Amino acid sequence: LALALAVMETRRVPADAKAMIGIVATSFVLYTLFAHGLTLRPLIGLLGLNRLSPRELAVRNRAMALALADSREHVRAVAEEHDLSHGVRDEAEAQFGGRLGTLEQSLETDCALDEDARMEMGLVTLAGREERLYLGLLDENLVSRQVVQRLRAIAGRLGDGARSAGRDGYLRAAVAALDHAQGFRFAIWASRHLRWHRPLRSLLSQRFEMLMASRVVLRDLVNFAENRLGALLGAAYAGRIVAVLNDRRFAVEQALEALRQQFPDYARGLERGYVGRAALRQELAAYRALHEEGVISQDVLNDLEREVGHRWRVFEMVPTLDLGLDAARLVARVPMFAGLGAASLQNIARHLRPGLAMPDEVLVRRGERGEEMYFVASGEVEVRNPDTLPQPIRLGAGDFFGELALLTRQPRSADVVALTYCQLLVLDRRAVTQLFREDPSLRDHIRAVAQNRMAAERAAE
Ligand code: CMP
Repeated sequence: LALALAVMETRRVPADAKAMIGIVATSFVLYTLFAHGLTLRPLIGLLGLNRLSPRELAVRNRAMALALADSREHVRAVAEEHDLSHGVRDEAEAQFGGRLGTLEQSLETDCALDEDARMEMGLVTLAGREERLYLGLLDENLVSRQVVQRLRAIAGRLGDGARSAGRDGYLRAAVAALDHAQGFRFAIWASRHLRWHRPLRSLLSQRFEMLMASRVVLRDLVNFAENRLGALLGAAYAGRIVAVLNDRRFAVEQALEALRQQFPDYARGLERGYVGRAALRQELAAYRALHEEGVISQDVLNDLEREVGHRWRVFEMVPTLDLGLDAARLVARVPMFAGLGAASLQNIARHLRPGLAMPDEVLVRRGERGEEMYFVASGEVEVRNPDTLPQPIRLGAGDFFGELALLTRQPRSADVVALTYCQLLVLDRRAVTQLFREDPSLRDHIRAVAQNRMAAERAAE
């Protein structure tokens, strides 16, 4: 056709020839469409291209079994609701039951869906459902749009993981989702070095919200897997999928607990808001149902909705997350500084850099040069050196680390890793010198502890 059009646009081609080319081209196109339309379908059928693959067939049968089981339940409910005679009910039930029985028999012996395929199918189904559930939370205004977008992206990655590497891929994506992602790296840096805490604060409160939403959704998914996936995949596989989900739930619970430990007030505020909004949603639904049933008029409903709207606003106010990174407040939490006078404390607080560490963050790396030491104001860290320490050593609020490299000018003697969220006070060499000048007894104490630690290291070597 394109060729014919091009010819017809050319002036040098005589009009008769143009007309003929137009007719021939159009007829040819119409003929091929007609011929293909009629012959392609039988040809596809003849070659068997329209047949489902064994795997698709197995999935189809399982989906059918699931729907039949549901329909049988439904028949029973409808029969009871409409007071149908037992005969009619039994007949309908037997019809569904018979089909279901034959199908179930074929499912027992069906080996088209191997183990990996079943796991993949179950996990992909779950990831799709997870995405939809997050949208539901957004519709109900229980979770912010930004958080839902991030959660949906994570659910998408879970599905991709399951498709590409089955259970392992799904689990890998689940672990990565709980990581403190790249955004955190910049936020932590800005908070520690520029004392600009806003990005960190907003990422942490977003993490809180994401974990809370995940917890709600995971509970639903476990329910779904227990009650619905069994029919689709077989009970044993559904059980395995429930185990995967329970692992995820455990990890989410742990991550949430870690945040709650560090920011209990914020957690309480956030949970109060969530529960309050969920309760108001219920209340609103109840009013709307009463209106639909004709119990209350439109005016009454409007009035009630307005009232719920007022209360909603109270629960919508998200509390501000206080990172608690005020140097003076943190200094007061380290008993070792108790001996200093108010003036010295103020002086030292100016040289201290407060910082928040994330769980699993490596704060000090063995073998590196060190120009800073750290006081733990809250949380727990672990000193790790498999060569000299048979067991890692835990340090908590009031303890310090990183002093050895500073005092001996040797490379760092061990890794120090945060186990929980920690509030730290970081001192550079200048601040340490000043601190030692201000409080000689503190200096002696730190030196004594350092001597003991070095002795322990030497003994192990
Ligand atoms: P530094 O060598 O600068 O970096 C690693 C830190 O781990 C080290 O300082 C100490 O603060 C700490 N550390 C090393 N060995 C021990 C130990 N045996 N007990 C407690 N803390 C230690």
